[in-house]
Amino acid sequence: MSTSGKQRFIIAGLGNRGRDSFARALLSFPDRGLPEFKQKAEIVAFVDINPERARVANEVLGTRIPVFAGLAEAASKHPADWAIITTNDNTHADICVEALRRGMSVIVDKPLATSVWECERIVAASREAGRQVVVGHNMRYNEHMFQMARMVRSGAIGKVQQVESGEVLDLTHGGSYFHRWHSEFSKSSGLLNHKCCHQLDIINWVIDDRPVGVSAMGDRTYFVPRPDLKAGPRCSQCAIAKQCPHYCNIDVSYPGGRPEDEKRLRRMYVDVEHVDGFIRDACVFSDRNTINDHEVLNIRYAGGVLGSFSLMTFAPREYNYFYFTGTEGRLEYSVVFEPNEKLDDNRSGAETGFFANEGKPQIRLLHKDGKVEFINVKRLHKGYGHGGADVKLIASVLGVPIEGVDPIQRATPEQARNAVAIADMAARSIAGGGRYVAIEETGRDRPPLPPSARRKG
Ligand SMILES: NC(=O)c1ccc[n+]([C@@H]2O[C@H](COP(=O)([O-])OP(=O)(O)OC[C@H]3O[C@@H](n4cnc5c(N)ncnc54)[C@H](O)[C@@H]3O)[C@@H](O)[C@H]2O)c1
Repeated sequence: MSTSGKQRFIIAGLGNRGRDSFARALLSFPDRGLPEFKQKAEIVAFVDINPERARVANEVLGTRIPVFAGLAEAASKHPADWAIITTNDNTHADICVEALRRGMSVIVDKPLATSVWECERIVAASREAGRQVVVGHNMRYNEHMFQMARMVRSGAIGKVQQVESGEVLDLTHGGSYFHRWHSEFSKSSGLLNHKCCHQLDIINWVIDDRPVGVSAMGDRTYFVPRPDLKAGPRCSQCAIAKQCPHYCNIDVSYPGGRPEDEKRLRRMYVDVEHVDGFIRDACVFSDRNTINDHEVLNIRYAGGVLGSFSLMTFAPREYNYFYFTGTEGRLEYSVVFEPNEKLDDNRSGAETGFFANEGKPQIRLLHKDGKVEFINVKRLHKGYGHGGADVKLIASVLGVPIEGVDPIQRATPEQARNAVAIADMAARSIAGGGRYVAIEETGRDRPPLPPSARRKG
């Protein structure tokens, strides 16, 4: 703690999340953080392997926070209580372990890591250091998710027997991952890990159980090289970009008119790409993709529950669902995302800060006698990031009272590992032609590349 009594934070990774979700929140930017946050927290250093991106963060945020290329140097010059780790998924384990060994507690964004093996290193380091690890599973702070967890855990459907769930991404949202580092398996372990870890964690959390085996299949058939399109290597150098449903307009400003959001993608990535070579608007149909774009899996839980899950990245509409069936009834959650009327075409989407409108999320309780009860859920803090989920997570860490937070919403590293475990087992199963993979097979190494990664074209 600083002499002024504030919690000291180092932020590692000054991209999308580090800068605009966490730094802006701790600095109490409107719609990001509560006014109390900056009275309780102080950012003492920024760390990024691209120091230019951290410099831009200072410029955009109006701060003069010292910038370092590594956590070790930052921590030795500016001791801190917490490290916030918002770097690429494959770097989380090393940075977490370094922070914990230096006596810091950690907020690490989801997914905890890219394999069970790396998660175990984090869990062991946190136990050894006696420091906290809080994982950015912010979806738990969504009121509908919390409502489901409360109902199922309190026995509203009896003993859970089966779960069906799926994450169906539309063309812009699904495609957005194929413009960036996420489409390289070595950096994300695929979208089942990177993206679906949220939803897999919700399943594990709602039924309060841990996965012990998975059989899965997956492939990439849509985001494949398309020589017929004669597309350029990146949207900003592509003759057909404006006709493409995946066009990423690198020059657009985010809605809201805030100065920090002006030409957000250009300033955050393109202006500094000469330092690290990271291309933000790579063609989604390039041959660099090594992840699957659709996957289906079956999951077995320790307590006997059976689960099925599917990931789809190229659907016309976005859709999410969780269906839990127990001995006394069934709980269903679903939401269809609706087109955003503010968009004059379908091509701007997630890339530009315009997301499809969240439709009307619905929870239905199907009683044993067939009667259907619709459950009303009150939304709180909806104007903040991720529908209010981010501000609640950060408030809970800083001890700032905020409505709608319960200790069970905080994801422990052991629980976060269980979401990664499903993706890890699924990757091994897919590489093995769909065979059943038990949890004991994980924990020694990273999962293998999907077979689709080796297929070019
Ligand atoms: N919880 C959520 O809702 C949510 C949403 C989006 C992203 N995320 C997670 O946040 C993390 C960051 O994602 P993003 O969208 O901000 O990515 P990004 O590419 O915008 O930013 C990543 C930053 O990390 C830096 N970096 C990479 N390796 C580093 C290293 N070894 N040391 C220091 N800096 C390093 C990069 O230079 C970049 O500035 C990912 O793990 C992602 O899964 C979580």
